[in-house]
Amino acid sequence: MSPQLHGLLQPARLAGLELRNRLIKTATFEGMCPGGVPGEDLIRHHAAMARGGVGLTTVAYCGVSPDGLTFPDQMWMHAGIFPQLQRLTAVVHGEGGAISAQLAHCGYFSRNRPLNIPRPRGPSACINQYGLFSGIPVGGAMDASDIGRTVAEYAAAASLVRDAGFDAIEIHMGHGYLLSQFISPALNHRRDAYGGSLDNRMRLPLQVLTAVRGAVGRDFPLLAKLNLSDGFKAGLQIEEACQAARLLEQAGLDAIVMSGGLVSRTPMFLFRGASPLKQMVPLEKNPLQRTAMKWFGGASFPDLPFEELYFLELARQMRRTVDMPLVYLGGVASAEGMAQVADEGFEFLALGRALLHDPELPKRLQHEGETWRSACTHCNQCVASMGLPGGIRCVLNEPTAFA
Ligand SMILES: Cc1cc2nc3c(=O)[nH]c(=O)nc-3n(C[C@H](O)[C@H](O)[C@H](O)COP(=O)(O)O)c2cc1C
Repeated sequence: MSPQLHGLLQPARLAGLELRNRLIKTATFEGMCPGGVPGEDLIRHHAAMARGGVGLTTVAYCGVSPDGLTFPDQMWMHAGIFPQLQRLTAVVHGEGGAISAQLAHCGYFSRNRPLNIPRPRGPSACINQYGLFSGIPVGGAMDASDIGRTVAEYAAAASLVRDAGFDAIEIHMGHGYLLSQFISPALNHRRDAYGGSLDNRMRLPLQVLTAVRGAVGRDFPLLAKLNLSDGFKAGLQIEEACQAARLLEQAGLDAIVMSGGLVSRTPMFLFRGASPLKQMVPLEKNPLQRTAMKWFGGASFPDLPFEELYFLELARQMRRTVDMPLVYLGGVASAEGMAQVADEGFEFLALGRALLHDPELPKRLQHEGETWRSACTHCNQCVASMGLPGGIRCVLNEPTAFA
């Protein structure tokens, strides 16, 4: 086994947390919270990741408020689900793993109803293409009181997460959700202290980071998922992403999980490979939305060739900019690729689809060493499977999933 691969499998520290290795199961929305309550499937899913040997498993899209959810059957962090969250963390700990919660808010990009506010809100008023056929076709602009309330909601959610036994928090600042909407020049058209320059566009993400840090204390590991690029010309580009990373480092963030793309606009930039649209269309319950997806979905969900380590070139630029720990994410599919990522100075390595296909991957790496290669084909049907009863799965393991 190469020293780089060996190093990835050794214990490592992330702020005050000792992890058994440097491998992280990244957030992939599970679809396992019927009625907004973490279900047994969710517990089994993360228990399997921990049993398979990852250092840290990440629970996807933990909303900070009911208004921060994109669609029904997502959970938001409140006392009503505390016992289930406690059980989830205890089971993962029982398997020897650590567990992180991805704190998220969707901003304007929602089709969830009822809302406590007249319409979902982000940095600026805009068309809410996701809610077009759910009676919420436009998003509004957050005012000062919305901003203050949202910051407080992040802090309250963070306290709850820590008290429920989670070992770390990942603040979602990417993929076109609320904080990414503020950071992106394509989505933030404000003329106040929260819009315009990058310093201004970073104001809310930094306020959230400070509030979350205040809620959980200095040693509690805080990561942020940040776009390296939004994946289109008018969006965030790598130069500003690097400056944003520097601001987050100065504000005391512990690590950045590097990603890219906006789910609202460039979803395939996130994960590459085959379009999951064909499997998604029949699962869509709203007939108008289903028809729109059928006719126009191909524009936002085109096939996009998969390349191993597809974010590496952009990630290198961020590596040159900051000293803080960086988590490489995107297209890790072989032991050779893993060794390269470690060799280039990325402290942690996160995987999505390879672990969905095979949660035993970390154990397998111990045995197979350099010869390990993921059997995931990047068919991306796992993306559509989020909408199946029982939630996400790899169709290679369950070929009749869409039958
Ligand atoms: C089925 C699926 C669901 C995802 N859900 C989320 C999510 O809830 N939050 C998030 O930040 N990223 C999500 N992503 C993006 C992944 O975190 C990751 O960026 C992407 O899968 C690329 O990593 P990979 O090549 O290792 O799979 C999802 C990806 C997939 C395939």
